[in-house]
Amino acid sequence: MSKFEREFLIGAATAAHQVEGNNIHSDYWAMEHMKYTNFNEPSLDAVDHYNRYEEDIRMMAEAGLNAYRFSIEWARIEPVEGQFDEKEIEHYRKVLECCKENGIEPIVTMHHFTSPKWVIENGGWEANATVDAFAKYCKYVVEQLGDLMHYVVTINEANMGLQVKAIAERYKRQMMAKMQQMMAMQATQNAEAGNGSQSGNMEGTAQIGMNFNSMMENMKNQQAENVEVFGVAEPQTFVSARTEEGDMLVMRAHVAAKHAMKEVKPELLIGLSLSLHDIQPVEGGEEVAAKEWIEEFTHYIPYIKEDDFFGLQNYTRSLIGADGIMPVPEGAEVTQMDYEFYPEALEHVIRRADEEFKKAGRTDMPIMVTENGLATSDDTRRVAFIEKATDGVAACKADGISVIGYMYWSLMDNFEWQKGYSMTFGMIAVDRATQKRIAKPSLKFLGKLATV
Ligand code: BGC
Repeated sequence: MSKFEREFLIGAATAAHQVEGNNIHSDYWAMEHMKYTNFNEPSLDAVDHYNRYEEDIRMMAEAGLNAYRFSIEWARIEPVEGQFDEKEIEHYRKVLECCKENGIEPIVTMHHFTSPKWVIENGGWEANATVDAFAKYCKYVVEQLGDLMHYVVTINEANMGLQVKAIAERYKRQMMAKMQQMMAMQATQNAEAGNGSQSGNMEGTAQIGMNFNSMMENMKNQQAENVEVFGVAEPQTFVSARTEEGDMLVMRAHVAAKHAMKEVKPELLIGLSLSLHDIQPVEGGEEVAAKEWIEEFTHYIPYIKEDDFFGLQNYTRSLIGADGIMPVPEGAEVTQMDYEFYPEALEHVIRRADEEFKKAGRTDMPIMVTENGLATSDDTRRVAFIEKATDGVAACKADGISVIGYMYWSLMDNFEWQKGYSMTFGMIAVDRATQKRIAKPSLKFLGKLATV
């Protein structure tokens, strides 16, 4: 017997900026080309999906997949505030039609991390104006292309800004602790050598002072360059560390966009996606883990519980001790991204999310796995991962949880943001010198899970 019923959506996910290439009006393009950039390399022509989408969609269909989650690029549709580009609408019309011709259900994401540069110049994801601007863009797209759309994810990983904030704070704490340690060491050495200052202050400790100075210098340069490029020293892109107000602003943008799109096409099925870890407390970590789960997920429920579906994205688990996140257990297999190979996480998170929706009074929330996957050079591990993860999905369904689809991240190897092209998440390999595609065995393996 097949693992899933005929209607179950089995597919792969991509995001415009990571695959299309030449997304020149976006904030990311600007950041990638800055002198003091944090990106390992720029996206450039990416994997040229903009021109090769037909081949890519055909490959999916031939392998048996029945769904494709991709994003429409706001910076292409509205490169200048208020000026919508009909040529780009035509491009996405062709992509949607190509899905239809190949029997692939499109799941359209309206925002996947990148924004038009002008949005950031206007204050970005901390500015009220962005709520309206986003809703307007979404409405325009549905007016033009709604006839070919059924499923829409408004915003990808709406909780990313808070996660980035938490990581930045953790990183800062670690840096501070390291610096304090080094300063104390230096002070002891100075005292032993009779060098005066025992305070370990920056100026008195050459080595630390040098690193600190260059770090500060770099930050200053980055800020000056930000002012040149975006007109502000601290641009608020979608993945910048977010304030609590910014967090709520993203929810308001989701709700406003949903209403604007429903005005045009009420029968559209609309949700957003969140990145959820399988948060597991280890002794003493219960309280911290509970807090983390609220921050990562449950505080969003009031804003999404009336949605048509929930987009769940999961990659691994996080073990939480009394002091927060713990390292990956010794000896555990890790992916190229350095996180634990742990496909069981998906089932755990689906069950937890479902319980939370039920607790909040939404008893029938359809859950779509909008991303799940791993970066590895060993495709047999990808197959093993997909097998285990989808077993978990099937077990949830057998227990009556409404899971409506599974989208593997990613269809093809692509631009992994600041890490560039070094991470291979794809079920299709791409030789970027020739843009030639080669399907890995995992693509067929996933396709076989779809029932025709
Ligand atoms: C994002 C993708 C990203 C993937 C792998 C998700 O958080 O939505 O854009 O490439 O994870 O890191």
